[in-house]
Amino acid sequence: MLEDKVIIVTGGASGIGLATSKHLLASGASVALWDLDPEQIEQAMQCASLSTGRCRGFIVDVTDARQVEAGFNDTLDAFGSLDGAFNNAGIGSATLPLADTSEEDFDRVVAVDLKGVWLCMKQELLHFRNHGGAIVNNASVAGLVALPGQCAYVASKHGVIGLTKSAAVEYANAGVRVNAVCPGAVRTPIIGHLEDAGIDENALAEMAPMARIGCPDEIAKAVVWLLSDEASFVTGEAMSIDGGWSAQ
Ligand SMILES: NC(=O)c1ccc[n+]([C@@H]2O[C@H](COP(=O)([O-])OP(=O)(O)OC[C@H]3O[C@@H](n4cnc5c(N)ncnc54)[C@H](O)[C@@H]3O)[C@@H](O)[C@H]2O)c1
Repeated sequence: MLEDKVIIVTGGASGIGLATSKHLLASGASVALWDLDPEQIEQAMQCASLSTGRCRGFIVDVTDARQVEAGFNDTLDAFGSLDGAFNNAGIGSATLPLADTSEEDFDRVVAVDLKGVWLCMKQELLHFRNHGGAIVNNASVAGLVALPGQCAYVASKHGVIGLTKSAAVEYANAGVRVNAVCPGAVRTPIIGHLEDAGIDENALAEMAPMARIGCPDEIAKAVVWLLSDEASFVTGEAMSIDGGWSAQ
């Protein structure tokens, strides 16, 4: 489905990013796996499905404009071309009502979950506007509906959908498609934050009519499809993959 395509995956060493990297490789793509922690990247690269020779790791903090630009140029140098990106890196916030949220936590979450996506899209679009390409941003069900106690996360993820729609409209004529996925609760380390705040797994599962937590592969398959030519007429879409959570 994605033979000879080169795709960046930010936050690629864990959870949804790691699962998507594996599915991209299985679809024939080459993957530039960006993440923060060299050891985590090394571990991810040792997974059998990532050791195809078509996956390279890059240490990039998506909150740092210079690192994002350098990571982008290093990726282009390593692969010689670039066709798509999954802007996935993200963090959770402390679970507190809006008035009790600290400025530090708000800034920390917005820096990764919103500005980080914008910084990556900026570099990607500077290239794709001349070559065409496809971008998928990882928003969340929290980009579509409120999640009590998560205002910085909810605001960031609504913002990611705003960036997605803006870029989809601005760059449609340049042959660039830009979409978002909006996962519900998915079994990865990030939901540990909610569990730490006393929201247990059953309560999370019950948020969705399907009454279960999703697995990273269920998000990865949609991302692969959106990045591929199979989705050639799809742009500006915020696709719910949430067991029906946001349909209520
Ligand atoms: N798991 C869920 O229930 C769920 C639901 C909806 C949306 N999401 C979104 O999915 C995305 C991936 O999350 P996940 O659940 O796989 O969590 P995860 O913690 O397993 O993965 C997140 C990855 O992002 C990386 N990362 C964090 N900050 C970074 C930075 N500044 N620069 C580069 N990399 C950074 C982490 O090192 C980690 O590898 C996030 O954007 C998250 O908001 C997750």
